[in-house]
Amino acid sequence: MNFGSDNIVGASAPVLEAIARHNGGAMAAYGNDDLTKSVKASFANIFERDVQVFFVTTGTAANALALASAVPPWGLCVCHREAHVIDDECGAPEFFMHGAKLSGLPVVGSKLEARDVAAYLKGLPKAVKQMPPKALSISQATESGTVYGLAELSALGEVCRTGGLSLHMDGARFANALVSLGCTPAEMTWKSGVDILSFGATKNGCLMAEAIVVFNTALADALDYRCKRAGQIISKGRLIASQFEGYLAGDHWLANARHANALAKRLSHGLARLPGVRIAWPTEANEVFPIIPAAMDRALREAGAHYMSWTDLSLDRQESVADDESLIRLVVSFATEETQVDRLLEIASAAVSRQAAE
Ligand SMILES: Cc1ncc(COP(=O)(O)O)c(C=O)c1O
Repeated sequence: MNFGSDNIVGASAPVLEAIARHNGGAMAAYGNDDLTKSVKASFANIFERDVQVFFVTTGTAANALALASAVPPWGLCVCHREAHVIDDECGAPEFFMHGAKLSGLPVVGSKLEARDVAAYLKGLPKAVKQMPPKALSISQATESGTVYGLAELSALGEVCRTGGLSLHMDGARFANALVSLGCTPAEMTWKSGVDILSFGATKNGCLMAEAIVVFNTALADALDYRCKRAGQIISKGRLIASQFEGYLAGDHWLANARHANALAKRLSHGLARLPGVRIAWPTEANEVFPIIPAAMDRALREAGAHYMSWTDLSLDRQESVADDESLIRLVVSFATEETQVDRLLEIASAAVSRQAAE
């Protein structure tokens, strides 16, 4: 029963089969092989337009290099205060931006709202000593398992357009957000004003494969040099391309995300039915954030369940975590089985019954 994250499992079978299929024989190195070229070209079908695609091996690399392309060393990149880029990447975006800063907005709730971003931008002094805002980075799905709707995305896109900022989307869980909204990749990105995307695939079935997808061609100018300097031009590039081939073929990526999201909903609904449990943020992708009695937390951990304790920083105003409660994060992956979800629910339910009997 491991709900620690969606990267605690290996790769899915179609991804491994694709790697094996393209493993034999000689091919040009450093992404100059035909497979890499054709898989990159297939992103144009996914996004319904020409895009520039750069393969990297981690989400941190994708985010840091994408932001470095969008923000000059004297610029500011605005994000949610709990964004992965500011909280969980050991300063990599700032390192690759060569001096530019991330500014985490202390908003209420899991998402940035266009009006809050606009107010923040308006309040920034316009003196030369003030770093000018050059990009907004949002996570889709968010770090709290919620998903920006198309209207919310477009409103943020409009704020960026008006203020001259690039809009970056951290799509570590892009597929989960996409199937949750039921829209097209184009609608969730460039049609809503996204300029550059970190297209995650590792969490949803690949071994280690992420793509930087650029819609605003000006941002792609030096990206291949940036990738090389970051050690992200992979010499056996076909082994990254083959992962994407297996991931994208037959909409395998969407099926994986639908599976994870559906089980997350099952888990969320099952927990919400138990007395003393509240779901901190709506379960809109593949992560569930319940606030549970501390006794249930203990019972689950004693029974061998793995998951993370979570921060209450982004709770909505009306919600809080009491001293005898725990806010936890349960992540469901493409490989999680229904029986694992049901087992966790059984243990949680037994903990409720035990507490009632005491
Ligand atoms: C929102 C978000 N962005 C990016 C990443 C990618 O990070 P990594 O460098 O571990 O692949 C993660 C992984 O946890 C994430 O949750």
